[in-house]
Amino acid sequence: MEIIIQPDSLGASYLAARIIAGLVRAKPQAVLGFATGQSPFKLYQFLIKIHSNEGLDFSRVTAFNLDEYVGLDPTHPASYHSYMRDNLFSRINIPEDRVNIPDGLADDIPASCRAYEDRIRAAGGIDLQILGIGTDGHIGFNEPSSSLASRTRIKTLTEQTRKDNAALFGGEEKVPHHVITMGLGTIMDCRTCLLLAFGNKKANAIAQAVEGPLTAMVPASILQLHPRTIVIIDEEAASGLQRAFYYKWVYSHKPDWQKY
Ligand code: GLP
Repeated sequence: MEIIIQPDSLGASYLAARIIAGLVRAKPQAVLGFATGQSPFKLYQFLIKIHSNEGLDFSRVTAFNLDEYVGLDPTHPASYHSYMRDNLFSRINIPEDRVNIPDGLADDIPASCRAYEDRIRAAGGIDLQILGIGTDGHIGFNEPSSSLASRTRIKTLTEQTRKDNAALFGGEEKVPHHVITMGLGTIMDCRTCLLLAFGNKKANAIAQAVEGPLTAMVPASILQLHPRTIVIIDEEAASGLQRAFYYKWVYSHKPDWQKY
């Protein structure tokens, strides 16, 4: 894992946006995996800016989102369809037919999950997957105890995750119990993973994911087995790391050819 600690979330998000812009410039038909939540919010604002100020072209990009709530209409304001439309897709030039988000309204959920995996494979696999992390160490909606080899499927949210996401629904009781999420095996197949985490409330999850043992109880710890994961965090999210000084030294002494 490459751990990059930035002074704040703005600088961290800008760096993430530059990495993604670099990928899209080098490979205009890139397949990008998107995440929702607070963590990638500023990154998406930077991508919109780079698109409008520098003409970054998303017309050949294919998008796959990590997850969606079961039972929510795509127009529901708390759905991840709405989040992506409002915060990114409607503000860049990605064609609608290149956007893929799990279907929370599917009649046959297992068939729809298999079809999602087939679409990822048919697109050539995901080049870069953006990830946030839950306070319990989940990625996507792969809650603790998720199979480390899991594929896209239905999951049941923990009480903690439903609490964490309650504000968007106007109350915990309104948060669905079920979701569809790419599995940990699906995420591990992505060529690059880019995980963003900011603030003190993520410090424990980051410490466990990066420096703790590999365990299904901290699903993000599976990324320790991923050949190319970049973790970009702010000082607060880094505050539980034992080797923060080392990671900072590594980053500031990268050879020129390795710099972003
Ligand atoms: C939800 C999402 C995850 C996200 C997590 C953290 O559980 N399904 O993909 O990483 O929330 O969200 P936030 O970035 O808002 O802290």
